[in-house]
This record gives sequence, C-alpha cells and structure tokens, in this order.
Amino acid sequence: MIRIKVPATSANLGPGFDCLGIALGLYNTFEVEESKELVLEGVEERFCNEDNLFVKAYRTAGGSGNIHVKFNYDIPISRGLGSSATLYTGGVLAYQLLNHCLDPQKLFKIVSDLEGHPDNAAPSVFGGLTASMRGTNGWITHSIPLNETLRFTVFIPDVEVSTEEARASLPESYPRKVAAANGGKAILMSEALRCGDIDLLRQAAADQIHEPYRRKLIPNFDIVKKTVEYDTGGALVISGSGSTCLLISDHPLSDPAALKIMILPEHWSIQELPVSTGPEYQENDIWQGII
Ligand code: HSE
Repeated sequence: MIRIKVPATSANLGPGFDCLGIALGLYNTFEVEESKELVLEGVEERFCNEDNLFVKAYRTAGGSGNIHVKFNYDIPISRGLGSSATLYTGGVLAYQLLNHCLDPQKLFKIVSDLEGHPDNAAPSVFGGLTASMRGTNGWITHSIPLNETLRFTVFIPDVEVSTEEARASLPESYPRKVAAANGGKAILMSEALRCGDIDLLRQAAADQIHEPYRRKLIPNFDIVKKTVEYDTGGALVISGSGSTCLLISDHPLSDPAALKIMILPEHWSIQELPVSTGPEYQENDIWQGII
C-alpha cells in the first residue's frame, strides 16, 4: 500500500490568470493499493465509479487494473483551493508509484491536460510558487523564488463556487489596454513575491481580468478585503475561481480583524498556511518528496 499526500493550490494570485499558482500546506491524502475490484472509500456514493477524477487520472496515466483507494480530504471542494488538481495528481502519482515509473514532468503534463490549464497543476506537482504557460511543444513551468517574509492566509466561506460557472462569468475578449495592464501586473506580482515588496504587491494585485467579474459570487467579499488589507497592509485576492480568498501580507492578521470576519453569515474559516514543497508519498513509514 502506498500513501500519497497532495497539497492545496491557490491559482492566479490576482493578475496571473491561468498561469501563476502556489502550493499551500493543506493536504488531501490517498491510500492506494492494487485490487481485484474498484473500491473507493471515503467519497460520496455518486463519485464511487469510473468518473471519479482520481480514477480518471489513474486510467489516463496508463492504469488498466483496479485499485482500492481510501480518500482523506482536508481540502474543501469547489472553494478555489485546487481540490480537483489533488485528485488528478494523486491518481497519476498512484499509477507511477505502483509501477515504479515516477516522472514529475509527465505527471505535470497529464494533470495540466486534464485540467485544461496549468496554474493549479504546476504547484500541485512541483510545490512552491510556479509560473506556467502553453509552449509550442506542450506545457512549460518554472518555479519562482518566494520571499520568506511573506505570509499566506486563506479565508474560506461556507459557499461553493463552480469553476465552470466562474469561468463562464468572464468576458470572451478584453480591450488591449486591459490585456497590457494585466500583463505588467502579472510580471510585477512575481517580482513582488520574490523580493517581498508589499507596496508593489498591493498595486500588482489589482487584477482586471477575472476579479471584477467574480467578486460578486463571493458574499461579503468587499468587507473581507477592506478589513484584512487595512489590518495587515497586505493584499487580498480571490484564490483560483473562489470562493476562498488569499491574503498575502508580511504581518499576521490581528484577532479583532479575524473576529470581524468570522461573525459574517458565511462562517468564514481562517488559516495561515505554510508554503508546501509539493506532494509526498510514504513507503515503509518514511514520507518523501517526488522531486
Ligand atoms: N485559473 C483558473 C480560473 C483556476 O481562475 O478559472 C481555477 O481552476
């Protein structure tokens, strides 16, 4: 039996729509072994079949036999924390580990293909902060250094947002000046994250591609943003397609500010999370990374 844990990911980081992503220390864990029948434990009945994303990824990687999987979820679903990427990464990794053919680049390619964009896939496989794109010969990703002074705090409301709907809420095209401004912001956001320049980060975080259309899908977004930015001096962005919001700051959130948010009707849960170095697997009681 192999145990695999895959981190949550927060995509976009404001202006890096479909290209920037970061892995955070909150995990889904999967216990996997080969088996005579397909057995999926710890998931709702409706997902106990071949349509399960973990199984789909296992099959796409080449797995034709059956598996027995125990799912242990710490990452809430439909909240913009990359839970589907954890299932895809877990399924492909299960195949690679059971067949002794671990290949992180291939893993990244399959997960990006399954997701249709690489921004959750890259940090889900390589950990840390990543910038990715579709190159002429397939997906390309690079790790970007992160300044150690930065803190990452997630605000998770009791509200689901479907990625499909959140993508459908976006325009098909944008004026040239919006595209140009967002390109500059995405580049300077990576630079601000590298050097820990909070003033630059706050200005670069003002995305114009997706946040203006998605903020209305998150109840009390404006109150949360104003409260935490005033309290910490940091920047609050929508995590992936929401509903989770991600605060990037160099100061921790104060207790009074946290309380102000926790009493909002959506039962916001607040967690400061470490940056994750990526998936790990356990064989013979020892956890090890895949890179
Ligand atoms: N970049 C994606 C989006 C992440 O914002 O729609 C969600 O999968």
